[in-house]
Amino acid sequence: SPSDPDLVERALKAKEALGDRVFILGHHYQRDEVIQFADVTGDSFKLARDAQNRPEAEFIVFCGVHFMAESADILTSDDQQVVLPDMAAGCSMADMADINQVEDAWAQLAEVGVTERTIPITYMNSTAALKAFCGRNNGAVCTSSNAEVALRWAFDQVGGVEGDGKVFFFPDQHLGRNTAVLKLAMDLDDCVVWDPRKPLGGNTPEALAAARMILWKGHCSVHARFRKENIDKLRAEVPDLTVIVHPECAHEVVAAADMVGSTEYIIKAIEAAEPGTKWAIGTELNLVRRLANAHPDKEIHFLEDTVCFCSTMNRIDVPHLVWALESLVAGEVPNTIVVDPQTQAEAKVALDRMLALPA
Ligand code: 13P
Ligand code: SF4
Repeated sequence: SPSDPDLVERALKAKEALGDRVFILGHHYQRDEVIQFADVTGDSFKLARDAQNRPEAEFIVFCGVHFMAESADILTSDDQQVVLPDMAAGCSMADMADINQVEDAWAQLAEVGVTERTIPITYMNSTAALKAFCGRNNGAVCTSSNAEVALRWAFDQVGGVEGDGKVFFFPDQHLGRNTAVLKLAMDLDDCVVWDPRKPLGGNTPEALAAARMILWKGHCSVHARFRKENIDKLRAEVPDLTVIVHPECAHEVVAAADMVGSTEYIIKAIEAAEPGTKWAIGTELNLVRRLANAHPDKEIHFLEDTVCFCSTMNRIDVPHLVWALESLVAGEVPNTIVVDPQTQAEAKVALDRMLALPA
């Protein structure tokens, strides 16, 4: 079982034996039984920063998904090794933007004269190869915590939000659209979707020339499941409900919510809430359950009737963690995430541009 006391004991023992040689990072969507071993927890932005905080740790064990471990490898020194306890912990959204498709899209946009005043911005939830693409094409990375600041920075490179420059945004169309429309006051019509299976992404050259945001056709399979009807139904049942959702949700869901933000933002909002207040949270279920358990004085609803875990985040469990830690104790380094030097250098440019943005 996930909370098998023998396994918990073994994980604790191995972690203790490794001491300062190991640094364990845990994303907020990880299971409780994994989070208990994390030295730090955070959203993807905080974890990217935190990964750099223990230069003396030989091993960084990343309890999260593949793209986060890649970013940790890029941001930490070459002699620190990043370990992902289960290599199958990927992200379906990151997989939706294949670097070859992205290069092909960029070449097509160049042919119709659109790349000159276009800045590519990729969400953290993407491969290192896509971050590298943004690094070498004057672009940057963003996370759900800083998407607005990153987009403003990008538009400033090409004449400002009020100008006629563009952003090509990967891979999450929802984060891109929600940020442009709700934070930058753009119109829905300013956004077009790029479908990599169609010529010109399914657009006319005229539509591409007129667009301000070109949104890669990607989404998060967890957050795409929330519907506006879920919000309407709960509001009808629970008076004085505050609805808080992650910006990976569809635009009409985010528009119908009261608050929107990253996992870290959601946690802070619930922590700051008055006792007796009522909340509906639209994000991954491990986090919502943890918040509900930690705040019994607040009424916390999950914004969906069916179970909504991120299946790849959930691949990391205590058995995998025990295996990874005991291997390290035994002198083997399993499941290392190693980004090749050129990709690393170019991706680091894009990540550093993000980390230099004002908070
Ligand atoms: P944040 O960690 O930025 O809130 O993003 C959520 C997510 O989907 C991570 O995979
Ligand atoms: Fe990817 Fe969505 Fe899972 Fe995050 S929650 S790792 S974006 S599939």
